[in-house]
Amino acid sequence: MNPITDRFEGKVALITGGSKGIGKAIALRLAREGAAVAVTWFRDRPSAEKAIAELEEAGSKVRAIQAFLGEPEAPAAILEEVRSVLGEPSLFVSNAATGVQRPLMEITDRHWDWTIETNARALLRLVQQAPELESVLALTSLGSTRVMPGYGIVGISKSAIETAVRYLAVELAPRCRVNAISAGVVDTDSLRRFPTADELLAEAASRTPAGRLVDPLDVASLAGFLLSAEASMITGQVVTIDGGMSLLA
Ligand SMILES: NC(=O)c1ccc[n+]([C@@H]2O[C@H](COP(=O)([O-])OP(=O)(O)OC[C@H]3O[C@@H](n4cnc5c(N)ncnc54)[C@H](OP(=O)(O)O)[C@@H]3O)[C@@H](O)[C@H]2O)c1
Repeated sequence: MNPITDRFEGKVALITGGSKGIGKAIALRLAREGAAVAVTWFRDRPSAEKAIAELEEAGSKVRAIQAFLGEPEAPAAILEEVRSVLGEPSLFVSNAATGVQRPLMEITDRHWDWTIETNARALLRLVQQAPELESVLALTSLGSTRVMPGYGIVGISKSAIETAVRYLAVELAPRCRVNAISAGVVDTDSLRRFPTADELLAEAASRTPAGRLVDPLDVASLAGFLLSAEASMITGQVVTIDGGMSLLA
């Protein structure tokens, strides 16, 4: 059960990649608990339009912004639009991610730049340019510390994110807390892009002590807690939510 509160009343939240999957679940959770919410999307307009309708139904003031986060100027443009429509953001969820599925030995400079700039640099730029942030959350994955076939470049970007979280937590304290959520396997569009998605999902479910896959709602529940004042003494941490999957040898 997820008790709904008004703990984000009056807050403005920005969630990159909040148009679907885990990002949308987090956006809806924050909206239902009182936040005005800006979500970004990149290629899939119909999903963004659906997300806007659901967020409005949740009673939130909403803005959906199309952005390619690998573009160096995207963070400034996103923030300008959020400020002009909803006000200065105090909550930020760095959720959008991209990458190529290839062995690291086949990764080119272009793949490197595309992935690291979108996943890691955009987080840093957004935090640098939003001086009233109180709580930041970044989405990472077990691939930052574990080896998964074809996941090398995304794994490197996730390691960068986790390290940035620790440094930013210290640099921004006590004004702003910075944490990360490392999720297990969640059935979303990006997961479905893996050629072996069905096997991956079935294997993850069977190897999870909790008996099922992690759902976006599970991640949203943890995100709500970490972003809220209830977690006021938690900063610089990577919190794993995987039903115990990564505990098994
Ligand atoms: N799914 C999992 O099993 C899992 C596990 C651990 C961690 N995570 C992390 O959780 C986060 C969300 O993942 P998800 O599975 O929910 O993804 P998803 O459903 O595929 O959604 C990805 C979102 O990011 C946007 N996006 C993609 N590439 C972008 C780019 N280059 N520039 C700007 N926006 C871009 C997408 O917009 P469009 O669709 O409009 O292009 C979409 O809104 C990611 O950081 C992911 O690494 C996921």
